[in-house]
Amino acid sequence: MPLLREKEGLELIVWPEDRECDRSWLLDNIPGATGVLATLSNKVNEEFFEIAGPSLKVVSTLSVGFDHVDLVALNKHKVRLGYTPDVLTDAVADASVMLALMAGRNAGAGVTLVKEGQWPKFNWAPFFFCGPQLSPTSFTPKRTMGFLGFGRVAQATLARLAAFGITHCIYTGNPASSPDTALEERLKEQHKLQGIRRVDLDELARESDVVFVLAPGGEKTRHIINESFLRKMKKRSILVNAARGTLVDSDALAKALEEEWIWSAGLDVVEGEPKITADHPLLKHPRCVIVPHIGSATFETRLGMTTLAAKNLLAGISGEEMPSEVEV
Ligand code: DGY
Repeated sequence: MPLLREKEGLELIVWPEDRECDRSWLLDNIPGATGVLATLSNKVNEEFFEIAGPSLKVVSTLSVGFDHVDLVALNKHKVRLGYTPDVLTDAVADASVMLALMAGRNAGAGVTLVKEGQWPKFNWAPFFFCGPQLSPTSFTPKRTMGFLGFGRVAQATLARLAAFGITHCIYTGNPASSPDTALEERLKEQHKLQGIRRVDLDELARESDVVFVLAPGGEKTRHIINESFLRKMKKRSILVNAARGTLVDSDALAKALEEEWIWSAGLDVVEGEPKITADHPLLKHPRCVIVPHIGSATFETRLGMTTLAAKNLLAGISGEEMPSEVEV
């Protein structure tokens, strides 16, 4: 806000509440706007552009993902798009590892029991509340981390996992790109891995001890984690999704947990959020840990994101180069 307020000649219209802005308020206030700073919960679609009108030069989204923006309509209306990569990489990577640990070690169910005053009476029964160990052991010397999507957040997650002594990394990248052997060599050496390989979805499912879903959302990746993928995963494997809920078929995941095709899931995002009610099939499962899309929610990262989003907005309004612009 200070950055925007100090810009001369800029009239600011600001949603006054500290929550998602109402669609009707947004549509009432965008006609004639030169720039809009939006969040993930604002659908930036044909209706949005038509109502904003020809004065609109830039949309600056407070997110690295932009599946809420209709890029065809953006192009048609000749509007530029700013986004917030890099500044949130570390926070989301931290959260991804947190979810893998929480899901593997029954942390969700454990916290619930203790909070309900039901400290388990059998907690020294030898295998009570056990889960698969993330780091290698003499019983499980090979630990393979799988990544669906191998961009900035995935690589930062791998860097953190290296400290757990993981031995192998496999990933499925954007099918339109070719494997980057120089990158693989560098990561292998840097993280002392025994192996790192790009694989197809089938192998990703079969070989991974943890699958981290860290790919963009949108139609192309919708339900890429489906029943067929989940059925191929190892029985003691973990699924982590810190990207977009739409990548994972929730019904198939609920079935996978219920019928024990996989061990557990750690989710920062769920399809249909924020309208996730207590009767959602995933909420019923004790080995499904869900947090409400807080991957980037640290004070420092949100300050970085809001600053970058404000700078993108100002640059777009002035017709200057933006610090981070989506190439459409
Ligand atoms: C984003 O910015 O797209 C992420 O979902 C934040 O967690």
